[in-house]
Amino acid sequence: MTNQPESAPAVDAYLSELLAPADEALAAALADSEAAGLPSINVSATNGKLLHLIARIQGARSILEIGTLGGYSTIWLARALPADGSLITLEYSPVHAEVARANIARAALDEVVQVRVGAALDTLPQLAAEERTFDLVFIDADKVNNPRYLEWALRMARPGSVIVVDNVVRGGRVADAANTDPDVTGTRDALQLLADHPKLSATAIQTVGAKGHDGFALAYVQD
Ligand SMILES: C[S@@+](CC[C@H](N)C(=O)[O-])C[C@H]1O[C@@H](n2cnc3c(N)ncnc32)[C@H](O)[C@@H]1O
Repeated sequence: MTNQPESAPAVDAYLSELLAPADEALAAALADSEAAGLPSINVSATNGKLLHLIARIQGARSILEIGTLGGYSTIWLARALPADGSLITLEYSPVHAEVARANIARAALDEVVQVRVGAALDTLPQLAAEERTFDLVFIDADKVNNPRYLEWALRMARPGSVIVVDNVVRGGRVADAANTDPDVTGTRDALQLLADHPKLSATAIQTVGAKGHDGFALAYVQD
């Protein structure tokens, strides 16, 4: 873990234990994801709690997540929904989706969460064709497609919707205009779109901790 204060992981562990402690379902979701060989690229506990709080503060009733992995962030988000709320999460890998479905069911959220398998650029147009709208969209899949995901999110948003884009700092690489890594250029293009779009008011915050130096963007869809 580079490019962050030496104390950051210990501070994150302290804050996580205090403010975002794992219960049985969250701990089991991470343990089973690891046992199934999924990469450890889920959000941290404090970031999961932040997503949960954003959804609650916003009063979200419909949530779209792009990038499910083992369903860890899905559980944090779905727990913010009212009983009649819904969350659709999009995942490319059938293996990841199967692990996520089991984790979501164990968390007793399978009534409100739907996992849709396929490349998000294929499943997003299907959602739009179903005339769905979302109060909150969490974008956390392949970063190269982030500008396209943002455009789809906007098509299915309403004034007052919130969009969160994860991993926008990438160890600081995002600030290097000469970096041609497609994940970095995809992130830079997405941030440019957030800056330029007349319907969006956005910011981005750097984070340090268990997941190293990274960050997220937060956007509000305005009239
Ligand atoms: C960073 S992980 C998601 C982590 C999850 N949101 C969490 O915090 O628990 C990214 C996920 O996106 C999936 N993914 C990658 N490319 C995708 C695509 N084109 N369409 C849908 N999902 C994709 C990967 O298989 C992976 O499971």
